[in-house]
Amino acid sequence: MLGGLSAAEFLSDHWQRKPLLIRGAFPDFQCPLDPDELAGLACEEGIEARLVEEHGKRGPWQVSHGPFDERTFARLPERDWTLLVQAVDHYVPEVAELLEAFDFLPRWRLDDIMISYAPPGGSVGPHVDQYDVFLLQGSGQRRWQLGGKIADDASILDGIDLRILARFEVEDGDDWVLEPGDMLYLPPGWAHHGVSQSDDCLTLSVGFRAPSADEAITSFADYLGEQLPSSRRYSDAGMPPAADPAEIDDDAVERMRKLILETLDDPAQLAQWFGRVMTQPKYVDQLVPSEQTTDPNEVVAALQEGEVLLRSPGSRFAWRALNDERATLFADGDGAECPPPLARALAGGTPLDAKLLENEGTAELLAALLDAGSLNWDGEPDE
Ligand code: SIN
Ligand code: CO
Repeated sequence: MLGGLSAAEFLSDHWQRKPLLIRGAFPDFQCPLDPDELAGLACEEGIEARLVEEHGKRGPWQVSHGPFDERTFARLPERDWTLLVQAVDHYVPEVAELLEAFDFLPRWRLDDIMISYAPPGGSVGPHVDQYDVFLLQGSGQRRWQLGGKIADDASILDGIDLRILARFEVEDGDDWVLEPGDMLYLPPGWAHHGVSQSDDCLTLSVGFRAPSADEAITSFADYLGEQLPSSRRYSDAGMPPAADPAEIDDDAVERMRKLILETLDDPAQLAQWFGRVMTQPKYVDQLVPSEQTTDPNEVVAALQEGEVLLRSPGSRFAWRALNDERATLFADGDGAECPPPLARALAGGTPLDAKLLENEGTAELLAALLDAGSLNWDGEPDE
């Protein structure tokens, strides 16, 4: 899929560093859905969808949010608009299956697979994303132009709901028309502009998110704060008499700095917070907690009868070893201790069947995950 590069080569030369155009990344690619099916998803309640009209009634680059209805699509012109639907991997299993090709990347870095449809001329304007993204052409053709790495403070157009770059200059040679199965990888902060060249242009964006320092610091401080005793405080035992009682001197600042840094520098707590934060579901409402508490004995009986559990679409799992005997399974923003093989199996792609019962504590953990809505029985509607 990486155009002749090994995963290791791609990661060392391109990932987070520079773009890569891969012709025929998915040979003979058949897009798992067509424009009408995408429009159908955009009409459903609870699915995040946007419509961008370059020459909208309310002004240029008009953005509207779904759910839409047939009237919306009936009134649209023949060109220059884009429909974008988020998290299609949560709703279309064949789209979710594409993620297996990206298993050389940590799954907890994944945001979702967004799919866009655009008639000729349709685009969302030149912009930058703070995501690593693989832009896979699903059907039709899209012309991609790149404008290089952009400074954080690059000016954007005023008065519209989109972040469109005020200036966009195509770098020499970075101008291609992508055909179905071609894919363009872009690191964060790289200016790009993709314009549909056909009336069946579908583009899949496989996006990988990275937590920002500002969100991470506030979120970790909150997590830690909930667990700290109120007795842990700034302390100035043994200090000399104040030279000026109104002054905050260097020693006072240093004491405070030490308190904060020593409290924050807790790798075990950081790992627990990190697993929880990276597995928080993108759409909390998509998880449907069970109405009644599940009896672990019933879980055992059902698995022994051959029933199989499925990870709920939209659920996020990850795991981390604590030592040889214990691990934390992170699921949808929560953490639970269990034996490492169980954590690995639940967080990975293996079928969830009676084999899991070989691990101690399986039934209780599965019951809790069923109650939280992170797992469902195969064949059971998840809503
Ligand atoms: C699109 O699919 O039209 C936009 C995707 C992107 O530029 O991130
Ligand atoms: Co983009």
